[in-house]
Amino acid sequence: MATSSKAPQPQSLEALALQKRILNHLKAFGSRLVVHIDLDAFYCQVEMVRTGSPEDQPLCVQQWNGLIAVNYPARAKGIKRHSTVEDALKLCPELTLVHVATYAQGSHAPAYHPDPKYATHKVSLKPYREASSRIFAIIERHVPPSHGTVERASIDEAYVEAGEIVNRRIAARFVAMLDEPGGSERALAEWEAMEQSEDGPEVAWGPETFVVGLPDAKERTGEPGSQDVPRKTRGWHDLQLHEGAKLVREIRAAIRSELGYTCSAGIGSNKMLAKLVSALNKPDKQTALRHAHVLDFMRDLPFTKIRNLGGKFGEQVEAEYGASTVSDLWQYSRDQLQQKFGAQSGSWLFDAVRGINSDEVVRRTKAGTMMSAKSFRPPLRTMDEVKHWLDVLAWEIHDRITEDYDVNGRWSKTLVLHLKSNALDKSRTCAFPPRHMCNGDVISQRAFDMFRQEGDGRALPLFHCSLQAGSLFGDKGSGAIEKFLGKKEEPVEGRDDDADGFADGEDGDAADRQRKEPAEPQRTSWTSAPPQRTIPKQNASVKSFFGSKQPPDTQPPAHSAPPAAQAAAPIELVDAPADVPTAEIFVCYRCSRSFPAPERAEHEDYHFALDLSRENRVVLGGTAAGTKRKQPPSARGGSGEKKLTSFFRRE
Ligand code: CTP
Ligand code: CA
Ligand code: CA
Repeated sequence: MATSSKAPQPQSLEALALQKRILNHLKAFGSRLVVHIDLDAFYCQVEMVRTGSPEDQPLCVQQWNGLIAVNYPARAKGIKRHSTVEDALKLCPELTLVHVATYAQGSHAPAYHPDPKYATHKVSLKPYREASSRIFAIIERHVPPSHGTVERASIDEAYVEAGEIVNRRIAARFVAMLDEPGGSERALAEWEAMEQSEDGPEVAWGPETFVVGLPDAKERTGEPGSQDVPRKTRGWHDLQLHEGAKLVREIRAAIRSELGYTCSAGIGSNKMLAKLVSALNKPDKQTALRHAHVLDFMRDLPFTKIRNLGGKFGEQVEAEYGASTVSDLWQYSRDQLQQKFGAQSGSWLFDAVRGINSDEVVRRTKAGTMMSAKSFRPPLRTMDEVKHWLDVLAWEIHDRITEDYDVNGRWSKTLVLHLKSNALDKSRTCAFPPRHMCNGDVISQRAFDMFRQEGDGRALPLFHCSLQAGSLFGDKGSGAIEKFLGKKEEPVEGRDDDADGFADGEDGDAADRQRKEPAEPQRTSWTSAPPQRTIPKQNASVKSFFGSKQPPDTQPPAHSAPPAAQAAAPIELVDAPADVPTAEIFVCYRCSRSFPAPERAEHEDYHFALDLSRENRVVLGGTAAGTKRKQPPSARGGSGEKKLTSFFRRE
């Protein structure tokens, strides 16, 4: 399985010539191919495998009194993410509940504690990060860096730029024939027949792939009432999609057999489409989208499902046109959209609703920073309490950085402490302890020194505190091949693009927040705001989605994404100088999402509302009052209401 996707290298001149001919043809007549892979109920599967829970047993992952992941058998019982434990048990008394791992008071290692408490424990996502690494290792093994790019889009999601590897696999099938008796003639004859076929090669879809616009494979299985529907299509891109589907099947089978996890996948001609179709059939299924069905597929789709249209920008569009489906937006010209939303966003939108998107799959390097955070309700009021929690955060950072050192040979240069009290919302940075003298206590002491420099009073009562190891540096050089090949690398952004609120774990660590920092450690004074990030320019090359047959009104965009999309782009952490207004875009340190600076206060209110609702859940222990995330009164009816709704939209 591990080597199955690697196309054998042609040995002879004849083989090389045939390979080149096929690759040239596929490049000219095929188009781009992108795969999106997303693990099914990810945290649940990690816990199901760890505890040996049967696959059909309803199981949820719990954080304090709320559910953060719900497996498919539990979903079938009507349980939803963010239900309370109490409500879930009413729906399904036999439900298995697993609480996320936590650091207990005084302990330096996360564990599955029998009865963890918000007041005394801190969440650890370590088991999920570890599972994620193993999953990505499998995906990367199937996509050699010379023939494809893997992007880590979130803890459980990957994009693969798969055009090259798929073309090579197709070519390899013909090249392999050369070794058979009479193979030369047969390979050439079969290839030329394909080349000359008027509408491109014929493709017969196997039962493992759902194909948008074609009947489901199950209709062919001979089940009672089923019909024998042939699922054959024609076209060069169909050939690529079909080969892409085989590659994905292999990757999914490897993840399943080696780790025990199921995932779902989408195969399409760009990132946007691949992601949209991967969510169509879940769990444990894969779906391909042919060119011919792109517009049909998009027609009735709520346009807010499109990446970057799920938030603020989508709300603007909705308010402007009263539109809800993608096709509601087809009537507006590029000019009209540009006038309403600006040249870049308008043009991006015009293309997006036609299935056109040129976002590149970008290889992500390891995170540039790592963070450990905790919110306090009630707030901390004494220095002893602060010291205690700084110890917990510091040991988590220590645990993660030593693990990273073992794997990647990196160490941090900066330690950033961020505090939030009534009077403060500030970060302070100092040098990270050198490796030979580092342990959690040393990190904690440095953090505590920074805390004390604020002077007593202002930082207490303390509502939120985070520690961040920044400027991780000293990679063992694993990226050398990619650099040689000129492949782009971007730092991982840890948040889940589609999962609003994902980054906002009670302890702030659900975010897996990861940022790139300035290269040199800085001895800064307190900054007036949490660390801000600058947004670099997008550098996406424009790729033709429809290949040579692109209709005139579907020209690829001259840019890659609207401002909202840029916000999800690679980032750089800079400390905002004291009392200097922040940049035009601010990036929320709690959820890593970006917004225009004027929306900052409003956005922070979200988190406040969210914290409140959580606090209710925690404090009320699952009484009716605490069963739902609440909207603050001020958000009702106003624009804030929409925002909160969109924040929870995935439920
Ligand atoms: N997650 C979270 N909080 C959120 C969203 C996601 O903690 N608001 C976690 C979930 O526990 C989840 C993982 O991140 O297991 C991946 O999220 P996502 O892919 O959105 O959901 P899944 O649980 O994997 O479910 P699905 O099968 O629908 O992908
Ligand atoms: Ca998932
Ligand atoms: Ca996901």
